[in-house]
Amino acid sequence: MKIASIVGARPQFIKLAPLVRAIRARHRLRSRLKIEHVIIHTGQHYDDRMNRIFFEELGLPDPDYNLGVGSGSHGRQTGEIMKKAEKVLQKERPDWAIVYGDTNSTLAGALAAAKLGHRVAHIEAGLRSYDRRMPEEVNRILTDHCSHLLFCPTRRAVQNLELEGFKNIFAGGRLADMSGKNRSLLAKAPFPWVVNVGDIMVDALLHGMAIAQRKSRILKELQLRPGQYDLATIHRAQNTDEQERLKALMEALLEISRIRAVVFPVHPRTRKYLKRMELMSAGSGRLHLIDPVSYFDMLILEKNAATIWTDSGGVQKEAYLLKVPCITLRDTTEWPETVESGWNRLAGSDPENLQKKLKRALKQTEELRASCRQARKDNVYGTGDAAGRIMACLSDTAR
Ligand code: UD1
Ligand code: UDP
Repeated sequence: MKIASIVGARPQFIKLAPLVRAIRARHRLRSRLKIEHVIIHTGQHYDDRMNRIFFEELGLPDPDYNLGVGSGSHGRQTGEIMKKAEKVLQKERPDWAIVYGDTNSTLAGALAAAKLGHRVAHIEAGLRSYDRRMPEEVNRILTDHCSHLLFCPTRRAVQNLELEGFKNIFAGGRLADMSGKNRSLLAKAPFPWVVNVGDIMVDALLHGMAIAQRKSRILKELQLRPGQYDLATIHRAQNTDEQERLKALMEALLEISRIRAVVFPVHPRTRKYLKRMELMSAGSGRLHLIDPVSYFDMLILEKNAATIWTDSGGVQKEAYLLKVPCITLRDTTEWPETVESGWNRLAGSDPENLQKKLKRALKQTEELRASCRQARKDNVYGTGDAAGRIMACLSDTAR
């Protein structure tokens, strides 16, 4: 069976790694069905620190194709990826095109494949923030609706899809049990199929943390002590592209840094706007503005932070998985379980109230940390075997 993974942005390289490992494991176990895995990199992220370091650190094979699309407006980027991915897909003719998450690379890859009549599998299907102002929400909805296999990370994601009319829900939306007769059902049912496989980022985190704890030197390099600093990441368009809002966020981070050191690995999008506003030098004293870090270093920074301030989807969830209190610098989240469990709070996005809200959040950090210590320790994101479940489902479709 030939599968083609279409990736292009930082979090997608991280999500690709467990799948690559699951395929290698199948080959080691000499599974009867041989899987050929073609990796198509759209080129959406191209800086070494957004791209190459992940392939190297995570031991990923070099992409078979790099479409070299680069940055641009949504229409240009999405259109260019579609145009170039179409050519590669026509040549490779995979049994499955696999797309990850909610970026322009996800939507463009899914659309190009679906229109060629290829079957599409979406990893991280069914997430909804119900905030259509975010381009990611549009990408998620459209990708789900042109996919054949929808691999959901949670039961909530399955329910979201049920509300949109998806009918073939595997195992009632419970975490997929890939043993026994359930699996042959899958092979017979008409697409689209909705399967709760758990979150592939749990696979990535469990595997990554074990290595990170041995290898990462980041705390030493930055002279940080566990629990004595906060970690921040900001890259959402609604936070970076409006001058007033980015300025308010930077002021808030400076304020936090008067209490505790703050480490802020700056995404290239944010760096561009901070430079334009001459705010890069705000990162003096105890607010450390640093280049984006590798995944292993990021896991160590997250695990040892007192609090995490972020607008990233992945970072919010990693904070929850590592049980670190998180303040999310957005109005909504596609990971509502993190908020319901008490580990994550939404700080909103209105610039006028933002300062007030962040100040309050800062004052409440101690209270948040105390309440987090009593918060539920359950994990709604699965057991860390999403990639194994995904490969089992895909191989069943080849029978
Ligand atoms: C993209 C995704 C977002 C995801 C994020 C992960 C979309 C619509 N957005 O946002 O969902 O959370 O990736 O990090 O797909 N740039 C560089 N070097 C790079 C990449 C980008 O300098 O290697 C700069 C360019 O100025 C570019 C800007 O960052 O215009 C934004 O990049 P883009 O890929 O369009 O969106 P992200 O903000 O990275
Ligand atoms: N990440 C990283 N280095 C950084 C910032 C983030 O390795 O400097 C990792 C982070 O641990 C998470 C993923 O990148 O696994 C999240 O990606 P990002 O915030 O870019 O995108 P999102 O998840 O919001 O789509």
